[in-house]
Order: sequence, then C-alpha cells, then structure tokens
Amino acid sequence: MAWDYAPAPESRDIVSIQREYGLFIDGQFQPAADGAKFATVNPATEEPLAVVADAGITDVDRAVRAARAALDRVWRRMPGRERAKYLYRIARILQERAREFAVLESLDNGKPIRESRDVDVPLAAAHFFYHAGWADKLEYAGFGQAPRPIGVAGQIIPWNFPLLMAAWKLAPALAAGNTCVLKPAATTPLSALLLAEVCRQADLPSGVVNVITGEGDTGAKLVTHPGIDKIAFTGSTEVGKEIRRAVAGTPKRLTLELGGKAANVVFADAPLDQAVEGIVNGIFFNQGHVCCAGSRLLVQESAADLVVDRLKRRIDTLRLGDPLDKNTDIGAINSAQQLDKIRTLSAAGEADGGVRWSPQCRLPERGYWFPPTVFTGVSQSHRIAREEIFGPVLSVLTFRTPEEAITKANNTPYGLSAGVWTEKGSRILWMAQRLRSGVVWANTYNRFDPASPFGGYRESGFGREGGRHGLEAYLDV
Ligand code: NAI
Ligand code: MG
Repeated sequence: MAWDYAPAPESRDIVSIQREYGLFIDGQFQPAADGAKFATVNPATEEPLAVVADAGITDVDRAVRAARAALDRVWRRMPGRERAKYLYRIARILQERAREFAVLESLDNGKPIRESRDVDVPLAAAHFFYHAGWADKLEYAGFGQAPRPIGVAGQIIPWNFPLLMAAWKLAPALAAGNTCVLKPAATTPLSALLLAEVCRQADLPSGVVNVITGEGDTGAKLVTHPGIDKIAFTGSTEVGKEIRRAVAGTPKRLTLELGGKAANVVFADAPLDQAVEGIVNGIFFNQGHVCCAGSRLLVQESAADLVVDRLKRRIDTLRLGDPLDKNTDIGAINSAQQLDKIRTLSAAGEADGGVRWSPQCRLPERGYWFPPTVFTGVSQSHRIAREEIFGPVLSVLTFRTPEEAITKANNTPYGLSAGVWTEKGSRILWMAQRLRSGVVWANTYNRFDPASPFGGYRESGFGREGGRHGLEAYLDV
C-alpha cells in the first residue's frame, strides 16, 4: 500500500531576515570597511536570502583588536561564576528562540526542519549550558590549580552545522575566559549572525564575541593575524593542512577537526532492523554533510544480501524535498559546488565498477538536490571508498572475519568515527580497541553530547571538542 503525507510546512514567519547584515565587531553590526558584500541563498530554491558583509583585512584587524581589548578589560578578569551567568543566559535565549533558529538554519543551509529543530538547536543550547557549568569549576578540570585562558581565539567553521559548530567553538572558549573572533562559512552565515544578536540580548560585554563573515580568504587573514593566540578550525582536510602550515613556527595554538571516511561495521549477529536504522541515520542524516558520517558500510558477508535488501526498502520510504516540511527526511545539498563534487565522485564510483542504486524519487526542479544513493560491489581501491564525498552516498563493502573488518575499517587516511553493530558485548570492546578513530559508536550512530569529547586522529585532525578534554584546547596548559 502506498502511503502519502499531506504537506506540513513550518511557517517561516517566525524569522525576519534582514536584507543586509553587517559584521559583528565590538558589539555593533557594521559594514565592511571597503563596503564589500556577498549574497547567501536558500539552497532548496536558489532564492537569495540576504546580503552579508565580506570582511577584509581592516575588518579582521578591527575584530581581533576588539577581542583583545575585551579580553584585557573584562573577560579574563571576570570570576568564572560571573562568566557562567552569560553562558546560561545565551543558552536560555537559544531555547526561547529555538523555532526561529531552526527555521533560519533550514532556510540558509537546506537541512530538514526536523533535524534543525530536534538536533542542531537543542544541542547548541546544551553546549552553552554544559560549559556554563564549567566556567566556575575550571580548577577541577585537571589542568592545574588556576588554569588561565589562552587569549584571543580565531574560530573558523563550516557550513554543515552552522549554529552547532558556532556553539562548539564559542561555549568552551568563553567558559575558559577567552574572547573570540568567529568566521562562519560563506554559504551559511545567518544563524551565526543571529547568535551575535543573542549575545547582545544577553548583555555579553562588547568585543567578547565578534562574528566576521566572508569566504576562505577572510579565514586565511584571521589565521595569519598576529593578534590571534589560538586557531580552532573545522572543515576540509585540505584547508586544515594549509592552516597548519600557516601557523607553523608561530606561538599560536591550533586544533583541527577535519574530514572523515567512517566505517559502519555490521556483524551478522546484529539486530538488523536496528542496524538498518543506524546505517540510514549514519549516512543520510544532514544529507550526508557530516564529517563523521558512516559513509562506508562494512557488512559481514553472510548477512550482506539481507542487509542491503532491507536497507533499500527502508531508503525507499525516505522523503526528499522541502526542508521546511516537517515530514522531510532529506533536504537540499548546501551549494552548487558541493552538488558538483557529489556528482563527480558518484560518477567515479560507477567508472570504477561500483553498482549504483537510488530509489525512485522526484527531485525538485529548482535548488540543489541529490537522491539517496547506495553503491554495492565497492572495493577498497575505489575512489568512493577512499575520498570524503560529504553527500548522501553510501559505499557497501563486505568482510568475513572481525580481523578483516578491522583491517578494512582502518584502511583510510582518516580516523574520526566508526560504528559497530553486534549483539556481543565483548566484540564491541574488542573492535573499539582496534578501530583507529576518535569516536566509536556501538549499536547506535551519530550520537552527540556536550559532555563527550569529539575529535580525530591522523588526517581527521587533532584536539577534542566537548567534555573535560575539550576545555584543554582553550586553557593555557
Ligand atoms: P572548507 O574547508 O573550504 O571551508 C571551511 C571553512 O574554512 C569555511 O568557513 C571557509 O570559508 C574557511 N576557509 C576556506 N579556506 C580557508 C583558508 N585558506 N584559511 C582559512 N579558512 C578558510 O570547506 P568547503 O570548501 O566548504 O568544502 C569542501 C569540502 O570539504 C567538502 O566537500 C567536504 O568534503 C569537506 N568538508 C568537511 C567538513 C568537515 O566537517 N569534515 C566541513 C566542510 C567541508
Ligand atoms: Mg545559504
């Protein structure tokens, strides 16, 4: 029987998008010194949403100076219990304005409202709550009696979780007494600018948080600015390497959270229906624009046909379309450029001999869209098994023994995350000890908690975000 759903769009009236946004420097929104601007679009419709300022060197310099002045004037001197109040306030305002943030995030990014509403925004608030709790307890974090902040943090974030990544960066930095210059990605600047407004609403002293919008060159100027004490970057491995080169030989601290090519390993004894849900969540959550996405399914050979069959049946029921519709599972690809990359790599998957499958699904005419896609018959040398696609494309490989699963799972330059599905607890532990990745999920996938450190090995970067470990990145230890 074919089911259908009536449209259930979330109203966009809750958010009023300005036609133009300035840079948030020293508590004020202001145009770029040279007046440069660029537009951000809704990737689901290609409709322009707003024009934002494009920060140049003068603006970067002003933002860094404002952060330095705020550091020395108020923030590093303020007792932790006072800093905590601001973080709690920001967290509560995020909760109060949650719907507004969710709609804005879905409009600017293309992700389904179900995800922005249920994941991005609540987790962002949770990060501020969690770190508010640390602000007056830093001496118990295990980094000495009176841990001090590093100073001015330059924080560069990607477009896949714009608000959440801003929260991951700002909350621990502020809790530890640092001041910040945040640069959101060019295709998704709006939620960070709304968060800047929230900082004002929370009466955060001016200059403690500055938000400068721009493209990669703005980020590069922030990285090389001599007034920066620490760079925190989340994004592609390629840019991460550039940043590491730029910072080498300077006293700047650096943490990098880069790409991934995670293995989601399913043993034949796993609860298969649950595993299928986990595979779907692992690769189709946020259109696969997830650094820790389970993009390589490793399934035990004896169960492979069954798992792939059930997986396809489940994917058949996914709904792709309007991100603001509450029934939508898969939204729009974030940009034309990213769509291009997904298409190129998928074509390479076919050229290399993989068997491509997608469900029957009509793509909207305007906007950037890619159907959920599964490649079977993939071998380890194929590009789609090695390169980060950052889209809704799953590669299926098989294994026979646990040893083979480990060898294949670890056969990647990355090491961010992995999943294990099995009924056997001892096997979970055996696997977790051998998988070379920062996070291992067992019988679940894509679970996040502000108390749990997240980060990678090797080409996935270094440094941890979240938990006690994440504080280290913002303390002078
Ligand atoms: P990107 O790494 O270029 O962008 C991330 C952030 O860095 C953005 O704010 C960007 O403006 C900034 N940036 C770019 N060049 C910079 C530079 N030289 N110095 C300082 N900051 C710079 O990522 P992009 O181009 O948006 O995506 C390309 C690919 O990267 C994707 O297809 C995906 O595979 C991967 N990616 C991975 C992410 C992850 O979390 N693992 C996040 C975003 C992209
Ligand atoms: Mg946009």
